[in-house]
Amino acid sequence: MNVAVMVSGRGSNLRALVSAYDDGRLDPATSRIALVLSNVADAPALAFAEFRGLPTQVIPHGRDRHAFEAAVDEALRTHAVDLVVLAGFMRLLSPGFVARWSGRIINVHPSLLPSFRGLHAQRQALEAGVTIAGCTVHHVDAGTDTGPILAQAAVPVLPNDTEETLSARILVEEHRLLPLVVGQLVQARHD
Ligand code: GRF
Repeated sequence: MNVAVMVSGRGSNLRALVSAYDDGRLDPATSRIALVLSNVADAPALAFAEFRGLPTQVIPHGRDRHAFEAAVDEALRTHAVDLVVLAGFMRLLSPGFVARWSGRIINVHPSLLPSFRGLHAQRQALEAGVTIAGCTVHHVDAGTDTGPILAQAAVPVLPNDTEETLSARILVEEHRLLPLVVGQLVQARHD
């Protein structure tokens, strides 16, 4: 199974996926990262991918969403991608694009969906005063963070949490959950 990872920034979830291949939680015999695609040329995620010798491509989002998505679609097809993982990819994708990749595109989001969709999910959680937060890996559909849920992990919100401390606690779970779900999807395809 060919996996594409779409990124825009830091790339810690990309690193988590690569670590899972390194330590055997993901089997390179059944899946591999076929492409790391970034819409941001100087994203640290991209530098890491290059450092690790992964195939990379930068497609700047520019002003024309249609042209951007056509280029992304072409890149994914060129690399025979079976599964698209949005890992800190910070652009909304159009319903048309998502429909073309329906069932083959997943996202990791730092909240227990359906709570706290969209940006600054951890800040939203703190402002709401919840005592349990977490992350979700879900299929991507036409809405923002609305697709069917694949897996979730919960963390406590502690009394003195800031956005940073809560985000860091959630991120640990993101890094565990994302490779797990990718492995399950690879397995499901082979069953
Ligand atoms: C993560 O918190 C992810 O849930 C959200 O954006 C952040 C990306 O972090 N969608 P990174 O680039 O993977 O480090």
